[in-house]
Order: sequence, then structure tokens, then C-alpha cells
Amino acid sequence: ASGGNDYMYDRIVAITFDDGPCSRTTNRLLDGLKERNVKATFFLVGENAESNEKVVKRMYEEGHLIGNHTYSHIKLDECNISSAVGEINKTNEIIKSITGEDVKYIRPPYGAYSDKLLSHVNMTPVLWSIDPDDWATTDTAYVVKSVVYKVKNGDIILLHDIYDSSVEAALEIIDRLSSKGFVFVTVDHLMLDYNKINKTNYYTLEDKSVNIVFTFNNEKINAVKKRSKSLPPEERVVHRLEGSFGNVWLNVALEQYS
Ligand code: NI
Repeated sequence: ASGGNDYMYDRIVAITFDDGPCSRTTNRLLDGLKERNVKATFFLVGENAESNEKVVKRMYEEGHLIGNHTYSHIKLDECNISSAVGEINKTNEIIKSITGEDVKYIRPPYGAYSDKLLSHVNMTPVLWSIDPDDWATTDTAYVVKSVVYKVKNGDIILLHDIYDSSVEAALEIIDRLSSKGFVFVTVDHLMLDYNKINKTNYYTLEDKSVNIVFTFNNEKINAVKKRSKSLPPEERVVHRLEGSFGNVWLNVALEQYS
């Protein structure tokens, strides 16, 4: 297998930003992400996207994933279905008018939504696994610590790009985690259902040199090339892929080399 990005399968995280964009702070964040060559995921509030088209366009052009965070940051489970759908669709239209692309992912404000609502919109909800409450403090060091000491493979980190202290924390988190070998991906690369992998396949490959290729929507996203014998025992069997990764179908191809 060749091409695609070679990621270590055991240290992948997604860094996500809600509630923006805000011209000043989001641009500062985008500068920092660009410098570090890190792709992030932004869940935009429609009314902020509407008034910051340039920032949205920049996000898109620089390779970040853009999702929906409703038009006016409403609690989707507390309003009727038609206004909830209206909030979502209006935001999708605004984003699409800027980027030209359909919006597939939604982060419901407060994580609140219903299955009934989801049946009315064709979108995948994306929650989070690490929430340092960055909006409630200006203590950058505290936010950095709350993330860096907890983070594990497959985590989705929640931050907000509308605060200076959050932007500062985000860039420091990226630097600290990068130095520990973490790779940042956008959430579409994390929303995989590892429960659908036949894990027993891996055990038979334990002492072979293997190349494991993951494809998602026909796009190659992970290639792990290792002589499994050279791995420490706890890494030999790829059961570390277990975890809760949402509900999107994942195809796995195993290529075996002798
Ligand atoms: Ni929010």
C-alpha cells in the first residue's frame, strides 16, 4: 500500500472548536494551526458564519472540517422539530454558500438532541470526550493540563475559538501532544466503529510483518506498517483499536507481507 497519510493508530485525536467564528480569535487560531500544519474541526454558529464569511472561507481553504452548531446556538431538544430543523438547515445553507460543500456533521449545542430530530436531517452528530470547560476560565495553564493529562487515543477535544485564552490553550495543547507523538485529524477520520472490525483477524497476524490499511468512504486514512515482532507485547495485537468511535461504517483491509 502506498499514498495517504501514515498515522500511528494508537495516538490519534481530533481537536474541535465550537461557537465561532469570531474574526479576531479564529484568525489567530488559524494562523497557529497553519504554522503547525494541524487540521481541526470547527462547528460554526450560523449567525457568526454569516457575519464572518472570509474566516469561513479561509477555514475551508486551509483544509479544516466545517460542521454545524445551529444558527443561533439553541438547545435543540427544547424547541419543536420544525424550528430545530430550520436552525440546522439555515446554517447548512450559509456554510454551503461560502464553501460550496454540503455540511455532514453537527455538534448539537450542549450535546442535546433527539433521535426524532436526527431522522429529519441527514447529518451525523459529533459529541466530545474531553471537555476542559475552557469557556469558564481564562486560566490557559489549567485548560492545557485538563486536556494533556487526560487525553488518550481516539479522543475528541472540545474547545471554543471565540476566546483568546482558549486559542492560546489550543496551540499549547497541540504542541504538547505533538511532542508526545499524537497526530491530529478531523472528526470524519475518527468517527469509525471499531466494533465492526473482526478483531480476531489481527491475532493470526501477530508474528508477521503486516501493513494494515483502513479505508473510510474509499479514502485511505490509516496505514500502519510495522513488523509486529518489533512491537512491545502490549502493542502486538491491534486490540487497542477498541473504543467508542461513533457509528460510521469502517472498511478494513489487511495486507500481509512475508
Ligand atoms: Ni456551543
